[in-house]
Amino acid sequence: MLRWFVTGAGGQLATAFAKTLEGEVFLSQEAALDIRDADAIHAAVHSFAPDIVLHTAAYTDVDGAEADPALAEAVNVEGTRNVIKAVRGTHTTVVYFSTDYVFDGAKGSPYVESDRTHPLGVYARTKLAGEEEVLSWVRGIVVRTAWLYSDTGKNFVKTILGAAQKAKAGEHLTVVDDQIGSPTYAGHLAAAVDEALRQGVAPGLYHMAGSGYCSWCELAREVVQLAGIDIEVVPTTTAELGRPAPRPAFSALTSERPIPRLPHWAAGVAEAVDRLIPLG
Ligand SMILES: NC(=O)c1ccc[n+]([C@@H]2O[C@H](COP(=O)([O-])OP(=O)(O)OC[C@H]3O[C@@H](n4cnc5c(N)ncnc54)[C@H](OP(=O)(O)O)[C@@H]3O)[C@@H](O)[C@H]2O)c1
Repeated sequence: MLRWFVTGAGGQLATAFAKTLEGEVFLSQEAALDIRDADAIHAAVHSFAPDIVLHTAAYTDVDGAEADPALAEAVNVEGTRNVIKAVRGTHTTVVYFSTDYVFDGAKGSPYVESDRTHPLGVYARTKLAGEEEVLSWVRGIVVRTAWLYSDTGKNFVKTILGAAQKAKAGEHLTVVDDQIGSPTYAGHLAAAVDEALRQGVAPGLYHMAGSGYCSWCELAREVVQLAGIDIEVVPTTTAELGRPAPRPAFSALTSERPIPRLPHWAAGVAEAVDRLIPLG
């Protein structure tokens, strides 16, 4: 049986892994254990001696990173370096989760692993630098994913569902329609990563996201339709929304490598909405 160590316990992907790996020897990093603390991470990894570290911890506030780049750098780059330092000299595999935002969106068709990166914002730059730390480790695996959501944690699908449920008659939701990506259900990602690891996937870089792609507006419409809520979702533009961090206009991911494929993004939304709206 494998021994798994997860950083970022409490996050949506870590929670999905805890569910997928139920019954395994599994240690979630204590909430108090900060990946910026190199000694603490080293001690925790050495006392547990994991076969696999699922490094999900990250500073994930894309807009917040523009205001506090030092914090994003400390967590996403230095924190990741600490995790890699902790496993050097062991046989531990480290799986790091990166983002579609390492691309600038100019390609106009789904990105594969060999495509050139060009991050537009601070979050994306720090996640790309974290990738380099992980790929410097002989047992390092980088999984780029995208638009993660789950029935736990804070995410777009839950936000839209909550807003739609609270809306009064005649109100509408306004959602950007000029950013396209691959929404990914955390449960599907956790299952596919588990399968890849059990198949003995080689170290390196992989894209793993929900199949297909859509805009945020299309995703919102899917959520409200599945929830059976009669509310209009009105498209807007990125420029009108005016968020602090630049985001790629088209960042759908696909893979050119032998890796398990995830179900279509809409299947994940259906599963999440089912869990969020209990029957009856
Ligand atoms: N969410 C997405 O759309 C998306 C898309 C592509 C890639 N990813 C990547 O996928 C991974 C998982 O994402 P997610 O959506 O599960 O993120 P999440 O829900 O924001 O979880 C991240 C976790 O990391 C923790 N964390 C933050 N700083 C830390 C530190 N210094 N030491 C230890 N833990 C720390 C957070 O704790 P607090 O909540 O207490 O800060 C949180 O529990 C991340 O690496 C992210 O960059 C996410």
